[in-house]
Amino acid sequence: MSALHTKWNRLTSKLNPVYLKFTAAGIGVALCLVAISVTAEPKPADPPAAVMSAYQQDEHPEFPAGPGRDVTLRVCSRCHSPNNILSRPQNREGWEATIAKMVDMGATASDEDFAAILDYVSKNFPAPGTGGAAATAHVNANKATAADLAKALSLTDKEAAAIVDYRTKNGDFKTIDDLKKVPDVDAKKIDDKKDIIDF
Ligand code: HEC
Repeated sequence: MSALHTKWNRLTSKLNPVYLKFTAAGIGVALCLVAISVTAEPKPADPPAAVMSAYQQDEHPEFPAGPGRDVTLRVCSRCHSPNNILSRPQNREGWEATIAKMVDMGATASDEDFAAILDYVSKNFPAPGTGGAAATAHVNANKATAADLAKALSLTDKEAAAIVDYRTKNGDFKTIDDLKKVPDVDAKKIDDKKDIIDF
């Protein structure tokens, strides 16, 4: 055997245990992973939607069910009782200001969440004397009768009739802008009520 060969042999025999150790460790880790994945607890199935709601209706009965309820209770009960909301019925502009104030105070949520909160509180906790539920009842621009439109949107009978007339001739409205195009209807009245108009 040449001297070089011997040296090589010695080197590899020195390396081998190290290499083996790594291999063994690798296999060990792999086995562990297999073991974990086999023995891991099965993930519990997602709870049904009704249970997923963090805030049950009976927990805060003063807050009517509806879109935005959950996010309102979640975001707005972090610093104080959500009942603060009940103490301040106000119009949409008022709610916008209140929410802006809460943001200044450190309330955090995504823009969509704040928009949903604003919709929810404006709809359910409007200024007193504005008729509450009646004033916030939605009206479908394509299905409502002239009388319903007049009542819900504070239109004159003539304006309401013009809307029904227009929709009979031109087909369903799709947007607020369509509705504002109706001749002889005060577009500002439509704008004022755009949050309660469905299509
Ligand atoms: C980061 C903490 C925090 C969060 C989150 C928060 N608030 Fe407040 N809120 C306060 C504080 C502090 C006050 C008392 C302010 C005062 O007395 O001027 C308050 C007071 C109020 C009041 C009483 C009237 C007023 O204007 O002061 C209302 C209504 C209110 N909050 C609504 C909300 C709503 C709606 C949300 C969810 C968007 C919310 N709060 C989330 C901190 C918070």
